[in-house]
Amino acid sequence: MAKGLLGIEDLSRTEIETILDRAKSFQPAAGESFPRLDRLRGRTIVNLFFENSTRTRTSFEIAAKRLGADTLSITASGSSVSKGESLVDTLNTLVAMRPDAIVMRHSASGAPHFLSRYLTTPIVNAGDGTHEHPTQALLDARTILDIRDRLENLKVAIIGDIAHSRVARSNIHLLSKFGVEIVLCGPAPLLPKQLGEMAPGLTLTNDIRHAIRDADVIMMLRVQLERQHESTFPAGDYFKFYGLRLEHLSLAKPNVLVMHPGPINRGREISSDVADSQSSVILNQVENGVAVRMAVLERLLT
Ligand code: NCD
Repeated sequence: MAKGLLGIEDLSRTEIETILDRAKSFQPAAGESFPRLDRLRGRTIVNLFFENSTRTRTSFEIAAKRLGADTLSITASGSSVSKGESLVDTLNTLVAMRPDAIVMRHSASGAPHFLSRYLTTPIVNAGDGTHEHPTQALLDARTILDIRDRLENLKVAIIGDIAHSRVARSNIHLLSKFGVEIVLCGPAPLLPKQLGEMAPGLTLTNDIRHAIRDADVIMMLRVQLERQHESTFPAGDYFKFYGLRLEHLSLAKPNVLVMHPGPINRGREISSDVADSQSSVILNQVENGVAVRMAVLERLLT
């Protein structure tokens, strides 16, 4: 990771395992806060978010602070981007102030990869368009491994707007490196057939019941209207066909885990009773986000 963390696709299985093990050591004991360390004392990390974010931005900021780094967050609306400055000029301006790392979210797929070719400052991809969201897949894996011993041989159903989901893509890369059986499910316009070529052994289905049957993990995705430039599926029908409801859980393995990267839309992709059920690990995912990002930042900067 000499030049940051741009995607899961570039990581080996061993690198992923090392990050997940280190993240485990950062997990707080029940009722306690994350450890306060000085591993990154004197370092400055810039969070540059060109898209909205609640959890990812806060999580990176807390992670950096818990390691003793100085952080600052810049959002597109509050920066000179809104005055017409180009992406390269914005980044060069920031780099001239010598931060040690840049955490970046952008609506264009490949934006951090493009910039990393010009900059020596390491970039952590916090989500680029419909492409990758590597720390989300890492925190998802950490969450599964907190409850299951291993990823191998699990069946994971990823359900919803797969076409526009960087979360799905990073998870497919990660889970397929560990021999997970992955089933992708969504309405045809949100489940392009080419996705089947991303990894060997991927199954695609438009039938939610088929996807959930015997699943160990169900990952729900938000319908990402901000990335849909064409009318895809009538909103009212979506929940009826692809919303996860309590009755579905009995099709899965008895102790199935229900995940969602957030933000969740109750009554659209997931019912409230499922989101708040014993099976839901949605808040565990959020908590693990901090531990995983601590591991990623530490690895990058020490
Ligand atoms: C996801 C994202 O931004 O890609 N959210 C997140 O980072 N937790 C998923 C989404 O926005 O639907």
